[in-house]
Amino acid sequence: MEQRPKKALITGVTGQDGSYMADLLLSKGYEVHGLVRRSSTFNTERIDHLYGGTVQEAKGRFFMHYGDLTDTNSLIQILSKVNPDEVYHFGAQSHVRISFDIPESTAQTTGISTLKILEALRIVNPKAKFYQASSSEMFGKIQENPQTEKTPFYPRSPYGVSKVFAYWMAVNYREAYGMFACNGILFNHESPRRGENFVTRKITTGLAKILAGKQKKIYLGNLDAKRDWGYAPEYVEAAWRMLQQERPDDYVVATGETRTIKEFVEESFRFAGINDWENYIEIDPRYYRPTEVDVLIGDASKAKEKLGWEPKTKFKDLVKIMVKADCEKHGVQLKEV
Ligand code: NAP
Ligand code: GDD
Repeated sequence: MEQRPKKALITGVTGQDGSYMADLLLSKGYEVHGLVRRSSTFNTERIDHLYGGTVQEAKGRFFMHYGDLTDTNSLIQILSKVNPDEVYHFGAQSHVRISFDIPESTAQTTGISTLKILEALRIVNPKAKFYQASSSEMFGKIQENPQTEKTPFYPRSPYGVSKVFAYWMAVNYREAYGMFACNGILFNHESPRRGENFVTRKITTGLAKILAGKQKKIYLGNLDAKRDWGYAPEYVEAAWRMLQQERPDDYVVATGETRTIKEFVEESFRFAGINDWENYIEIDPRYYRPTEVDVLIGDASKAKEKLGWEPKTKFKDLVKIMVKADCEKHGVQLKEV
């Protein structure tokens, strides 16, 4: 008898990770369903290659459904209709600084939505496997270095607090109802599909626009914070592997290397052949946060041991990938240096 393809539902499919996850699952033969919210302008740029049919293999296996993470009925409707084998919950208000401006709606979208989906799954489809997009932001004011699955949380923003709530909901539904719920505690991961108001992409887009003569300066906040930056397509592979294990569990996904924002700026400009980067950067206190996460560095030993997952793309290569992509987008020819 022919086996039906596995079905997955992705929330946040129009975002960076959701779109890479859709690519990955389609390449593995899944039928992929994505939850998309209504927007006044097109918000499907990252998945147009799937929906628009440029990726032939996606034809007939990629579906979009209008819904909203704050709308319980839409979530129940979609989950009942699709009846997925796996749910990847990437949807969130994912911007840390903006979460200080809209704390309540961030709590709804980033925290409570996890509860809504878990509760809906418990009722309509308790056998489905669930992935929670947990975050290194939960470590906030770090309690030890490097951070592991055992490091206590100390969130420093409404976003971080919401993610801690969602993390524990996933653990609780696993323990209380035996559901297959995993937390991927992912450290920062970037790509040419990264939102343009996150610092790495803001730097690489700004640089490309400066080279194209469309912009003079890049306005940034705290250049001294340190982040453990990896490459997004590799990180969604780790998330997929979590749901293929025999038992649900929680995993840190990180590179183990930490760099300052200043280093990211320097490396980007150096790669583009500019040494006096200071002349192009202005500090704007608007981008400071009321409480900052000063440093993050993860230890992904458990993911290596249990999932056979390891990061491949190093810091300098990540910078190169992003600068090249943005320069191409803005019609800038780079001399290799
Ligand atoms: P992203 O690019 O900001 O994508 C967020 C997605 O959520 C978008 O598709 C967005 O839709 C959707 N969304 C927001 N509010 C919604 C609502 N009310 N209803 C339905 N959909 C909604 O984020 P990302 O970088 O891909 O991250 C994916 C997930 O991993 C997030 O949960 C994030 O918090 C978490 N995470 C990210 C990182 C990282 O470094 N990237 C690290 C750890 C954890 P629109 O396209 O319409 O805005
Ligand atoms: N966004 C932004 N814009 N950040 C800036 C800027 C700026 O102009 N200037 C300096 N920064 C600093 C921030 O203060 C922060 O210390 C660091 O750059 C990284 O900021 P973001 O790129 O916005 O990412 P994040 O670390 O706050 O959050 C991202 O990673 C988390 C995982 O640790 C997001 O993707 C979260 O959703 C994710 O959970």
